[in-house]
Amino acid sequence: MVDYEQDGITIEETVELCRRLEAEGVDVIHCSGGHHALMQYEVSPWYMPRVLHRWGWEQIKAAVSIPVIASGSIVAPDVAADIVASGSADFVSLGRPLLADPDWPLKTQQGRMDDITPCIRCNDGCLHRGLNVGRSAGCTVNPSMGEEYRYPIEKAQRSERIAVVGGGPAGMNAARVLAERGHHVVLFEQARLGGQLNTAVRHDLKKDLRALLAHLIHRLEGVQVVSRQVTAQELVSAGFERVMLATGRKPVPFQGPVSDARVLMAHEISDRSQVEGPVVVIGAGMTGCDTALWLQAAGTGDVTLIDSADRVLSQGYVFTDEMGMPDLLSDHGIQVRTNTRAISIDSKGVTVQDDQEREEVLAARTVVVACGYAPCTELADELATLAPGLPVHLIGTAARDGRVMDALHDSFFVARRC
Ligand SMILES: Cc1cc2nc3c(=O)[nH]c(=O)nc-3n(C[C@H](O)[C@H](O)[C@H](O)COP(=O)(O)OP(=O)(O)OC[C@H]3O[C@@H](n4cnc5c(N)ncnc54)[C@H](O)[C@@H]3O)c2cc1C
Ligand SMILES: Cc1cc2nc3c(=O)[nH]c(=O)nc-3n(C[C@H](O)[C@H](O)[C@H](O)COP(=O)(O)O)c2cc1C
Ligand code: SF4
Repeated sequence: MVDYEQDGITIEETVELCRRLEAEGVDVIHCSGGHHALMQYEVSPWYMPRVLHRWGWEQIKAAVSIPVIASGSIVAPDVAADIVASGSADFVSLGRPLLADPDWPLKTQQGRMDDITPCIRCNDGCLHRGLNVGRSAGCTVNPSMGEEYRYPIEKAQRSERIAVVGGGPAGMNAARVLAERGHHVVLFEQARLGGQLNTAVRHDLKKDLRALLAHLIHRLEGVQVVSRQVTAQELVSAGFERVMLATGRKPVPFQGPVSDARVLMAHEISDRSQVEGPVVVIGAGMTGCDTALWLQAAGTGDVTLIDSADRVLSQGYVFTDEMGMPDLLSDHGIQVRTNTRAISIDSKGVTVQDDQEREEVLAARTVVVACGYAPCTELADELATLAPGLPVHLIGTAARDGRVMDALHDSFFVARRC
């Protein structure tokens, strides 16, 4: 349709082109948009609107009488149904949603919408760790994508009593796979099912991850969920034959001096009324960026995001996130201060140092800490001492740092062999 460049292809040109194509005997027009330099329009990630090219294909449809196919972030059946029912387009096309779940159309036809594994528009498996590095496309939420017959989930030869500890994406996915294999599975979660996803989905921008969270919970059929913390001693006494530890990561507190100040860990904030502006968020990884966006959208007052690195998401993230995050933050009106290290926190705010070691106080009524994570591996150590013969698997981000893709792939490949 258009490339979305300022002086690029216009919709008027494309409409005229489509008229001529129809006159030449073309049967159908498929409408996509963007190009490689503006990848956020070509393969639109979570922070872009769904159905983002609708305005354009409707102009093409008004100009031709051959069928028009809509495409681009049509992730959910209700969105697709609306496009067709409203006459906006004649067909919809699904790219990434079919990588995420090849049975999307069948499940939709059968009315089994909750069974659809949703594409979360992360671009991690298909592009970032797929085509971009010269590999075939994979998928974050579908570890066997393209390898369906190589990695089936088969019934186990013997059904075991298995405990899964931690109900984040890794634990929920492992529990689901183990239950499908015919094991008796007990899933322990000390807080809310979803783990770190619960922090990620606070902002509406992450509604695609919200859909994944709902789907992972939906798939726990056949799994006994126990909503409390479990200890190593209890796991041993209960006689489990195998333990999966999907205990994830815990946030690291601010390391400098703190006195007389309102300091909250990013993951602790569930209600924005807990926060009074001005706010300084320390740490511009995904947790800090997401929290700043969410707080600013709520109108909590000025939000400043600081990081000692020279850019946001400096530890590396999916390339479309690295591309889009600076604009997303500035469009929300968030002040970003890079090369800025927090030294101490007190009632006036945060004392920071720039890369020339010049000090300054950034005024804050609330300081939010998003300084990274450390793995939760205590249970693994305790079990090794208490029950050395017990098979214990450390999976997901408890085993190594990562994103949803690492959590879902690791849990799938370990659980399908147990
Ligand atoms: C704000 C934010 C935004 C994010 N955005 C993205 C994104 O856009 N894309 C992406 O790919 N990733 C994102 N992530 C990262 C993603 O959420 C994590 O990679 C993922 O949740 C890790 O999954 P996990 O199952 O390994 O661990 P966790 O999600 O950490 O789950 C571990 C669970 O174990 C439980 N637990 C621990 N010990 C015990 C015990 N003894 N008994 C019972 N339960 C226990 C914890 O309560 C927790 O629920 C984001 C994270 C945050 C915080
Ligand atoms: C792995 C992958 C590779 C793609 N490669 C191209 C490409 O080379 N050229 C192009 O115009 N679009 C490309 N696209 C964009 C798709 O053709 C489609 O327009 C886009 O994914 C939006 O549809 P979806 O939201 O249903 O996935 C690619 C998409 C994916 C996921
Ligand atoms: S890797 Fe992410 S964006 Fe790509 S198809 Fe899978 S869920 Fe969708």
